[in-house]
Amino acid sequence: MVCSVKSFGLWGIDAFEVTVETDILRGLPKVDMTGLPDSAVKESRDRVQSALVNSGFRFPERHLIINLAPGDRRKSGPVYDLPILIGILKTTSQLHADTDGFAFLGEAALDGSLRGVTGALSMALYAVQLGLKGIFLPLANAQEACAVKGIDIYPAASLREVVDHLEGKKLISPLKTLPFDSENISSAIDFANVKGQLFAKQAMEIAAAGGHNLLLIGPPGTGKSMLAKRLPTILPPMTFDEAVETTRIHSAAGLLSGGGSLISQRPFRSPHHTVSPAGLTGGGSNPLPGEISLAHNGVLFLDEFPEFSRTALETLRQPMEDGTVTISRAKSRLSYPCRMMIVAAMNPCPCGFWGHPSQPCTCAAGAPRRYLNRISGPMLDRLDLQAEVMPVDYNTLSSQQKGESSADIRKRVVAARQIQTERFKGSNTTCNAQMTSAQTAQYCKLSSDASSFLAQVFDRLGLSPRTYDRLLKVSRTIADLNSSDEITREHISLAVQYRSLDRKYFGRQEG
Ligand SMILES: Nc1ncnc2c1ncn2[C@@H]1O[C@H](COP(=O)(O)OP(=O)(O)O)[C@@H](O)[C@H]1O
Ligand SMILES: [Mg+2]
Repeated sequence: MVCSVKSFGLWGIDAFEVTVETDILRGLPKVDMTGLPDSAVKESRDRVQSALVNSGFRFPERHLIINLAPGDRRKSGPVYDLPILIGILKTTSQLHADTDGFAFLGEAALDGSLRGVTGALSMALYAVQLGLKGIFLPLANAQEACAVKGIDIYPAASLREVVDHLEGKKLISPLKTLPFDSENISSAIDFANVKGQLFAKQAMEIAAAGGHNLLLIGPPGTGKSMLAKRLPTILPPMTFDEAVETTRIHSAAGLLSGGGSLISQRPFRSPHHTVSPAGLTGGGSNPLPGEISLAHNGVLFLDEFPEFSRTALETLRQPMEDGTVTISRAKSRLSYPCRMMIVAAMNPCPCGFWGHPSQPCTCAAGAPRRYLNRISGPMLDRLDLQAEVMPVDYNTLSSQQKGESSADIRKRVVAARQIQTERFKGSNTTCNAQMTSAQTAQYCKLSSDASSFLAQVFDRLGLSPRTYDRLLKVSRTIADLNSSDEITREHISLAVQYRSLDRKYFGRQEG
């Protein structure tokens, strides 16, 4: 008897329907598998045999054929173990329950227990879209699936439990959806711990308020890493949709299959500078998301910025603009979202002390220039704000006085973001940094006074034409933080101050 059991495949973070068909043919005992299975799927043949027998069932001593439809899409991973097992049980009349309207996913261990799979959240969401009644998945995927409404989700520890439920012997209670809470942030990391550095802190507040990228530059030990780590604590709490999107990416990357739940805090990713271009933007034969996508809706921190390979940094440029990254393969292409803020941190030279107020730089002549030149002009332009982080003096460092808390800064950021949400209603843009040129033209109109001021400083500072739009966007954010409709000369002046390192460090000036 031919039996069909529903399951899902994953392409990027999107699930697609897979039907597992099983049938018994005349002939010598063997198992054939068709439907573009990759090697992990093929290994399923051996796993399911053990899992079945060890769960107290019979493996058919016949010619068993397993087909994964549709036949033109590659199937990968061990997710089909459970649907194959259910199919075999039905084909061999060891299970008579009706499985219409239900989907199954899970890897089987040899003893019949179920292991978590990647992409379960996307699959469960897609099952709702298809109008299915329920989905059976391994216990290890239960936490992430808690977010899904509109379908019964049955987490099971083993094949036995699934069968017992289907036969009505022992019912699994469906998962309850958990209330979503993204407001609570851990208090261990807080801006209050950072002494002084008011200029850099303000840069971070502006960056957070408008979703802008940021460069921190200064000698070692001045608190650059400390500052960067605190950025997520002042970003607005994640919305439910953002949390689901980010979790789907982490789920597809297999970072949740150990039992992780919905990610409700903005991610902070800080890949080491030896990361490969594929590690950063995603890749592999069955392309997995890279660091920029794992940082989706959060922060990508690139510490020791000039130490990253030039190719790795250059592959970042397009995704930074688009908010999605496309990975091309010979026969296919795949996209992952990657809307994130970049915080880059660097020393100004190999020894780190170029420009330090008291410590001399010990680099060879020309070394600082070469070091800074590792950052290409187009990349530098994309880092909207730059802040110099110089050592704080002893009195500031030793004072007992706490700085402003993350929670207080966050209130101002949230207020500025609310203005932006209102402004961009109905478009894909969520914050000022993402404005299209048309939106920039519409929302960043300058008074004649502000406009002539900008014209003056632009030439004087030798700013690149690419930075013009970005300067306007940052000015818009500064105006929003001050609840001002109009962008004034003061707002522009502050935005320009955060571009002044073009001249000091990167030699961008006339002559
Ligand atoms: N402004 C500051 N306030 C409080 N502690 C600081 C400050 N700057 C540096 N520190 C201390 O110095 C350590 C090193 O700072 P770090 O952020 O790693 O510097 P960088 O990344 O610039 O090399 C921090 O862990 C912290 O203990
Ligand atoms: Mg550091």
